[in-house]
Amino acid sequence: MRPDGAPALVTGASSGIGEAIARRLAGRARPLVLTGRDRTRLDVVAAATGGRAVVADLTDPAGRAAVTDAVGVEVGLVVHAAGAGVAAPLDGTSAADVDTVLATDLAAPVQLTRALWPALRAARGHVVVVSSIAALGVADEAAYSAAKAGLRAFADALRLEDGAVGVTTVLPGAVDTPFLARRGYARAVPRPVPPGRVAEATLRAVERGRAEVFVPRWLRAASVVHGIAPGAFTALSRRFGGA
Ligand SMILES: NC(=O)c1ccc[n+]([C@@H]2O[C@H](COP(=O)([O-])OP(=O)(O)OC[C@H]3O[C@@H](n4cnc5c(N)ncnc54)[C@H](OP(=O)(O)O)[C@@H]3O)[C@@H](O)[C@H]2O)c1
Repeated sequence: MRPDGAPALVTGASSGIGEAIARRLAGRARPLVLTGRDRTRLDVVAAATGGRAVVADLTDPAGRAAVTDAVGVEVGLVVHAAGAGVAAPLDGTSAADVDTVLATDLAAPVQLTRALWPALRAARGHVVVVSSIAALGVADEAAYSAAKAGLRAFADALRLEDGAVGVTTVLPGAVDTPFLARRGYARAVPRPVPPGRVAEATLRAVERGRAEVFVPRWLRAASVVHGIAPGAFTALSRRFGGA
């Protein structure tokens, strides 16, 4: 689908990948509803894009209701970019962090999509989920990997529904956003890419109706190895994937 003239919702629009996507939808998607929790940063993006800022915690049903109320009954494009991470071995991960990651990265986009599904089907619209290469399972990110793999499977399943709604899964490697700094990313490979590159690949994939897009593109090879030779994938990850 082409987002031009379509009502759109972008979550996680106050920062990073979501902000970059919102900025590229400015003047194209109309109206443009933007969500995040930090009012100051969200207002800056809304002012720059002509979007409508809706401050909401998407792990809270009331926050999601505020977003669906703002969207109303017409939406053509929904981009789920909000997300939280936790990077630590499982026995160093708190129960609260597990809850936050699963609620933010998996439950919230599933619930929000469910709530908006009738409007998306009526518009023959498009859903984007920002998953991660962690969907393949990466070292020291077990809970995050589970959430991102769940999100990828959710998108795969949606694609099997009646076909009225296009579904694109975005699987970035490392992206140069505050998320990465919070995580304390120290790997040389994959080298972080700018969020604008993810935004451009995402909107291209939406326009071309692509099921999945890896950023950078060579990461697709990792997914292929994971699919056909999971043992080899684990061995390669142990060799090259450590933090
Ligand atoms: N950066 C990477 O290396 C990388 C790689 C692969 C995938 N991803 C995924 O890409 C997506 C965007 O990440 P990013 O790198 O752009 O991170 P970011 O700069 O930290 O942005 C995260 C966004 O999610 C929002 N958010 C977090 N928790 C929320 C909640 N409970 N309710 C509502 N909004 C919430 C944040 O809002 P506030 O800041 O306003 O609280 C912010 O807008 C995430 O799903 C992440 O898992 C990132």
